[in-house]
Parts: sequence; structure tokens; C-alpha cells
Amino acid sequence: MKRLLITEARLATMVPGAQPYGLIEDAAIAVEGGHIAWAGARAGLPAEWARAEQVRLEGRLVTPALIDCHTHLVFGGERASEFEMRLKGASYEEIAQAGGGIVSTVAATRALSEDELVAAALPRLNKLMAEGVATVEIKSGYGLSIEDELKMLRAARRLAALRGVRVRTSYLAAHAVPVEYKGRRDAYIHEVVLPGMEAAHAEGLADAVDGFCEGIAFSPEQMARVFEKARALGLPVKLHAEQLSDSGGAKLAARFGALSADHLEYLEEEGVAAMAKAGTVAVLLPGAFYTLRETSVPPVASLRRAGVPIAVATDCNPGTSPLTSLLLALNMACTLFRLTPEEALAGATRQAARALGLAEALGTVEPGKRAEIAVWNVEHPAELAYRIGFNPLDRLIVGDVA
Ligand code: NIG
Ligand code: FE
Repeated sequence: MKRLLITEARLATMVPGAQPYGLIEDAAIAVEGGHIAWAGARAGLPAEWARAEQVRLEGRLVTPALIDCHTHLVFGGERASEFEMRLKGASYEEIAQAGGGIVSTVAATRALSEDELVAAALPRLNKLMAEGVATVEIKSGYGLSIEDELKMLRAARRLAALRGVRVRTSYLAAHAVPVEYKGRRDAYIHEVVLPGMEAAHAEGLADAVDGFCEGIAFSPEQMARVFEKARALGLPVKLHAEQLSDSGGAKLAARFGALSADHLEYLEEEGVAAMAKAGTVAVLLPGAFYTLRETSVPPVASLRRAGVPIAVATDCNPGTSPLTSLLLALNMACTLFRLTPEEALAGATRQAARALGLAEALGTVEPGKRAEIAVWNVEHPAELAYRIGFNPLDRLIVGDVA
């Protein structure tokens, strides 16, 4: 098994404990067979490692490789004209009701082949990876027919092989009602969402099932039907919840033991309590908040008080968050939502791993976890959230990502 010793690191393990960021000065990390075998202050390194092949980091900062736990990276087209419309005063909901919004991206996505979708997504993926991302969640949800949803998921999976990145896919057919089902939401769920889920599962294309619970999308009752099917298939669930209004999505997600409820700008206390009880991660998406010039802030203080784990992601998508910088999302989470830089970094490492059901393997630098680390040209971990539009990544060191 391949052994590697990383030395001269300032290591932010992101393991919760006495030290902020789990910081260890002059640290060593021993890697064997793609896993971390040992990590700690160099003085304590077991003697057996003294002669292993060494990478000296000359005092650079090391963190767990970043995890973007909520993206819609695979899509066709763009929606700059909606950006212009919103700046002239139209709201996201108005544009959606007038036939723009998600369904306009559906037309552009349906028009592309699987190969073309891969090609369209690659520059976005490259940009995320260049900032230290080694795991990315990618949703379907712009196909909205069984074949087009499967095409999106296949494209997402191909990105993993092309770039050596770990991709977790979420089946999001319950994202919007396509034009051919206008006014027939229940029929759409019954004829497309549920059988499509079965097909995605049969092909091994879905790691989780997601939905959009909102007045302009699906009700908690409709989402419950989708989640019941997911449960029957043994697939974990997550939900776009409380983004534009309090629709009871977070409570529903918690009732189904969801991995995460995402957005949460309109989350109320009851939803917070339900999420805390269920261990559902709150995924905050400041890029969408910023783009929509939202004014209602997710209840961070309540989430903290209740002990709800908080993750941060880009929500990269053509409508509400054309953002391909997870570092900028961390900065926005601090400035707009008042997360601490430590919470923000935990949100893109340890808590993001949890939001994907990968907490046992990823998200911290400690023995037993996979060896996936980011090396940065900064002195202090707070700098990762502090800078705006600057990329201090030195390199990603990633074992086998399978
Ligand atoms: O995460 N809220 C719903 N879904 C996306 C937006 C998708 C779109 O507008 O294309 C989101 O914000
Ligand atoms: Fe989203």
C-alpha cells in the first residue's frame, strides 16, 4: 500500500474540540492506501513513519479538502436576461409564473445531449476544484422527464471519472412542473417523478432524492409522496425548504430523517426544533440569498442554539446562484449571515460531509478518514473566508476518490 508522510503543515483538522479549527502547529499527516493513518504534532509521529516518502509543506495551512454539498452544476444555457428583469423589479416568482425561471433552463437542458451537458458543466467543475473542492453534490431537476432526468444524472456521474472528483448525485425531478404538465402537479408526480426515481435507482444513478417545497413548486403533501417512495427504495432525502416562504418544508424533511434541509431563509422555530431532533443539517446558500437580493436571513442564532449542524454550499445554478466559488460562499455566509469563519469552514468540510451522509469518511483530517486535503498559501484558516475573489489554493492532495 502506498505510504506518504506530509510534514511542516499548519493543520486545521476541523475536529471539534478545545482548539479553534482543531489547529495543530508543525503537524505531520501519515497517509496509507488513500486513508489517513495518523495526524498530529510532528513531535509525536510514530517512529515507523520516519522513513516514509515525505512531502514538506514549509508551514502552509492544511485543511480537509472542501465539499460543495449543494449544486445544480449540470444544465444547459444561462439566464442573464432574468437577472436583467429582476434588476428592473420583477421577482423570482413572477418570472417563474410567466414561464421563465427553472422551466426555461429545462428547455435549454433538454436540447443538449449527455456529451454536451458534460462539456457545459466542465468549466464550472474546474473552477470549483481549483479552489480545493474534492467532493461535489450535483442535482438533476432541469430534465423533468424520465429520460432527461436520467441524462442529467449520467452526465453528472461522468464528470467524476473525467476529473477524479467525488460526485454525489441527487434526483430532483420534484423541482418544478414542466410545461406539458402545467396545472397537473399530482399527475406529474405520479407519472414522472415516482417512476423516474425507480429508473434512476435501478441504474444506480441516485445517491439521494431532493425536492423543492414551495408555493411555486410542490406542497409538503406532494413532497411526502416523493419521500415515501425514496424511503421504500432506501434512498436518503433532502429538500429545498423555506427559501421564499415558510411552507413547512423543514418539518417535513425532518419527519423523513432528511440528511439536510437547504436555503431556510423563512425557517421558523418549530422547523429549527424538528431539524435539531432529526439531526438534519441546515445547508445555507448565501449565493442565492445574494442574487435574489433576499432580505430575510436564515435564523442562524436559533440553529446554533438548537445544535443544528450548519453547512454552506454554492447552490451553483443558472437562476438563483450563478456562483462557482465555494470560498466566496464562505465569505458571504460570514458577511451576510454572520457565521464565524470557523463555522463557515466547518460548513464546507465536516458539516458538508454530514449533509451528504459521508461524515464517516470525509470532512476532517483524522485517522480513518480518507486522505483528501487542501493545502493553502495562507497563515490562518480565517483567511479562507475573509478574502473576496482571491484563490490561495496551493494544491489538493487526494488519494483514491472512489
Ligand atoms: O436552489 N430553489 C430552487 N432551486 C434552485 C433554483 C433553480 C433555478 O432557478 O434554476 C435553487 O435556488
Ligand atoms: Fe438548489
